Amino acid sequence: MSPDLPFIHHFEPGARPDAPPLLLLHGTGGNEHDLTPLGRMIAPGAALLSPRGKVLENGMPRFFRRLAEGVFDEEDVRRRAHELADFIAAARDRYGIGVPVALGYSNGANIAAAVLLLRPEQLSGAILMRATLPLSQVADVALAGKPVLILSGAADPIIAVDGAARLAAALKAAGAAVAHHTVSAGHELAQADIALARAWLEKRQAEAAQEPTASRG
Ligand code: MLT
Repeated sequence: MSPDLPFIHHFEPGARPDAPPLLLLHGTGGNEHDLTPLGRMIAPGAALLSPRGKVLENGMPRFFRRLAEGVFDEEDVRRRAHELADFIAAARDRYGIGVPVALGYSNGANIAAAVLLLRPEQLSGAILMRATLPLSQVADVALAGKPVLILSGAADPIIAVDGAARLAAALKAAGAAVAHHTVSAGHELAQADIALARAWLEKRQAEAAQEPTASRG
């Protein structure tokens, strides 16, 4: 951790300059190393930037405070989303990487959703695994075609089905290009999540390669 990058984090430079960097955001009780194998599987050769959540719940790192399971401290969600967005901007300068695609799981997916809704310029897209809508009031935000993949678990006991549906609706209303799939799994990830995320990212990369350079980012 350094004063300009005030999150404990792990960074892996990318071997493929054409692949967008991934911002890896772990779930409750995880750390900056948790999602690196997943990131490498989903985006081989991409740069990986992986911060550790600063909030501790019974010693378990998270990205924002919650009052109970599924009940979020929304003031903290907002504050932490801005703090994470500032970190992304500073890390981009430090490591010389482009605007990342977030790959978040559970609590990490929820903070990624909050960054999309509050500081959308810091993410070029997002893969949100087992996510819900983290804010009850969503201010006007322009997501202008930003690609978002939401992956829900059909038997997830932690994230209610309508939470993910509300998230998808809020992102779509803001103009994001949302794909929402429900896989046959619970809160834990399944092989189908990895296959869907990888295929979605490859397609998105192929589309981005067709776009004029000036419109990327
Ligand atoms: C949360 O953000 O609290 C998630 O929805 C659940 C979890 O991380 O355990």
